[in-house]
Amino acid sequence: MSNNKVLKNTLWPYRNLVVVGGNWGDEGKGKIIDLVMEHYDVTVRFSGGANAGHTVFTPDHQKLVSHLIPCGLAQHKECVMGRGELVDLRLFLEELEQAKKVLGGRLPKIYLDQMSPLWTPWHGLLEAWLEFARGKGKVGTTGKGIGPLEGLYKLRIAPLVGQVFLERKKFIGILELLYKTLQPVFKEMRAKGLIVSVGNGRDRSLQGNIPNPTQVADLLRSYAPKIKPFVTDTSFVLHQGIKNKQRMLFEGAQALGLDSRFGTYPYVSSGNSAAFGASEGTGLPMQSFGATLMVVKTLPTRVGSGPFPSEMWRRQEAMEFVKKNIELFTDKSAKAEFLNRRLEKINAGKASNAELSQYFQVLGDERGATTGRGRSVGFIDIPWLLYSIRINGPKWLALTRFDMLSGVKTVPVVVGYRLNGKLLAPGQLPPPWDMDKVNPVFENWPGWKENIYGLNDEKTLPKAANNFLNHLENHLKTQILLVGTGPGRKDIVVRV
Ligand code: GDP
Ligand code: IMO
Ligand code: MG
Repeated sequence: MSNNKVLKNTLWPYRNLVVVGGNWGDEGKGKIIDLVMEHYDVTVRFSGGANAGHTVFTPDHQKLVSHLIPCGLAQHKECVMGRGELVDLRLFLEELEQAKKVLGGRLPKIYLDQMSPLWTPWHGLLEAWLEFARGKGKVGTTGKGIGPLEGLYKLRIAPLVGQVFLERKKFIGILELLYKTLQPVFKEMRAKGLIVSVGNGRDRSLQGNIPNPTQVADLLRSYAPKIKPFVTDTSFVLHQGIKNKQRMLFEGAQALGLDSRFGTYPYVSSGNSAAFGASEGTGLPMQSFGATLMVVKTLPTRVGSGPFPSEMWRRQEAMEFVKKNIELFTDKSAKAEFLNRRLEKINAGKASNAELSQYFQVLGDERGATTGRGRSVGFIDIPWLLYSIRINGPKWLALTRFDMLSGVKTVPVVVGYRLNGKLLAPGQLPPPWDMDKVNPVFENWPGWKENIYGLNDEKTLPKAANNFLNHLENHLKTQILLVGTGPGRKDIVVRV
């Protein structure tokens, strides 16, 4: 049976599927969603905002990175931006324009929730302030205003998307409370000379000064005519969809390690990145969701700051390595030469962990899809995954980037965490502030010689690669349904 048929048979009983990330983001959720999307009618975002960067390819193989609009866009599937999504209207309109170019002007139906929290230039300022105030302990955010948007929403002083259609005076009134609340911060920022540009440099007319409520209202209201066709009560649209037996795919953004409640707080994003967020961010009852597919990156990565127990190298150095050696990422022959030489050293058992990290960073082109920052790489981390599985409750796993291990003779795998000399129970984790005290317990697993890049049939995988997958599955006690062997839609092995 073809991959597609197997996948269809497997997914068919699950009308509403939740897809989430199991590590610290960039697992390849976009690619997996793109693949399973074929068996669904609608893609729905339920959390996060423009901090997400999901890479997909259009039917004619053009790369599209979606930030705010769900990935279904590339395959012309209906897209719903649920209420839990944080919205920057300018970025939304820019993404629409970009998509129109790539997709030749043809766009599917897109719905934007009338009650999603709405970005203002003040959110950008507050984020800059918070990162400055944290000093060395900064979160290393994507700069899309996510923390302030979610936080001020919970403080009940957020403007909402649909309010741009209100009478001008009324909208200004809503913005005034937010402005007043932030005044002390703005004063402090001014005193410290921190106000260089406002609006992340995106709204030139406002640059260099802090706009007042009238100016912000006019800016946001200027988008009103363009967004009007999209804005609605998406919870009602989704409810109708379920009634009409539409098949829906709920697209997680970020990942469990970045979930504001169950991630490595405060080094997290501010939304619900776990599977449970699908209900909260859409208004659909819990029982609406059939199954969860958790996407796991074979070698996890992290950008920004925060705990990462299986990290190969020091974060700052790993991130800077990308910046300083950009030719290894952009020049094909320099890249190939570096990888060949480094793999020899790794297989001779002579490479340090820093050198291992560099190898996988270059091989995987580990640069963020949203910010371009270098990503730091970690070893396969079974204790973390057991925790992630405990919270997300996936029916299956999708293991992406398995091709990255091709040719590596021996693969170190973290199989346990020790804290104060004691082995932690499966699924148990210390609080984030103690995570640096954790000692990972390693096992060396045999790798395989062959290059599996682009393979898409389980039978053609080398025996050692199949053994590796079975071994991992036994540890995780969860079926690995999909195995990524390359970035393309067809670079996938379906296991049943
Ligand atoms: P997301 O945020 O989880 O959607 O992931 P990103 O799109 O930010 O980053 C994942 C990157 O890995 C993208 O460049 C994908 O094209 C790429 N990718 C996804 N799956 C695979 C895979 O199985 N193998 C390889 N080599 N690359 C993959
Ligand atoms: P996708 O959906 C990787 C990280 C940032 C930072 C922290 C908080 O593409 O997997 P924020 O701007 O959200 O307040 O930043 O979270 N981060 C991501 N890292 N992938 C993402 O999204 C991320 N979204 C946020 O780097 O450490
Ligand atoms: Mg991403």
